Amino acid sequence: TTRVVVLISGSGSNLQALIDGQKAGSLPVEIACVISNRPGVRGLERAAEAGIEALTLDHKSFASREDFDTELAQQIDQYRPDLVVLAGFMRILTPEFTQRYQGRMLNIHPSLLPKYQGLHTHQRALDAGDSEHGVTVHFVTDELDGGPAAIQAVVPVIPGDDAASLAARVQQQEHVIYPLAVQWFAEGRLTMTDNKALLDSEPLPACGYQ
Ligand code: GAR
Repeated sequence: TTRVVVLISGSGSNLQALIDGQKAGSLPVEIACVISNRPGVRGLERAAEAGIEALTLDHKSFASREDFDTELAQQIDQYRPDLVVLAGFMRILTPEFTQRYQGRMLNIHPSLLPKYQGLHTHQRALDAGDSEHGVTVHFVTDELDGGPAAIQAVVPVIPGDDAASLAARVQQQEHVIYPLAVQWFAEGRLTMTDNKALLDSEPLPACGYQ
């Protein structure tokens, strides 16, 4: 089984999707640990409810981003993970950190990358009048929200949508595609070589599998 460490900052609904997939037997992974940079979040409760080891590393108690990332890497490495999963982890990571886990760290970003890197993606899609929006799972590289995509899901923007209704529609898809990407990785089907994502050794399109 593939050992996974999941990093969270909040509600942990994507973590829950992974836990559920693992419990259902469709995901050949062991979630070795969940680490939150924010104390007291719902995702930590979800980990506890599932009997998964969880710890908080409050970024506010570190003098610099480098210090935080160094400690974070030390904690992660204690669990010897094959894969690090960023699931709503809202911290920018240093290049030292991203390089350390190159090819074995995934992120989920709530937009059709390369559109809308950064924050407030749902509002930005609405403001732009987009008819479609979505979510991307990608390998993490030095470039913020810029690594090669593994899979993307597209949802319609419906008249009357606000950021919350659109986010909810996107999140439903998140909970489908993130477990799938993790499953592919665990099965050895999803890899990254030369900054390109491959599925079954075939290069994926820039937007990932759709
Ligand atoms: C998810 O919608 C995820 O796409 C987004 O945060 C949310 C976390 O929800 N991630 C980002 O914005 C990354 N920049 P969750 O804690 O319920 O999984």
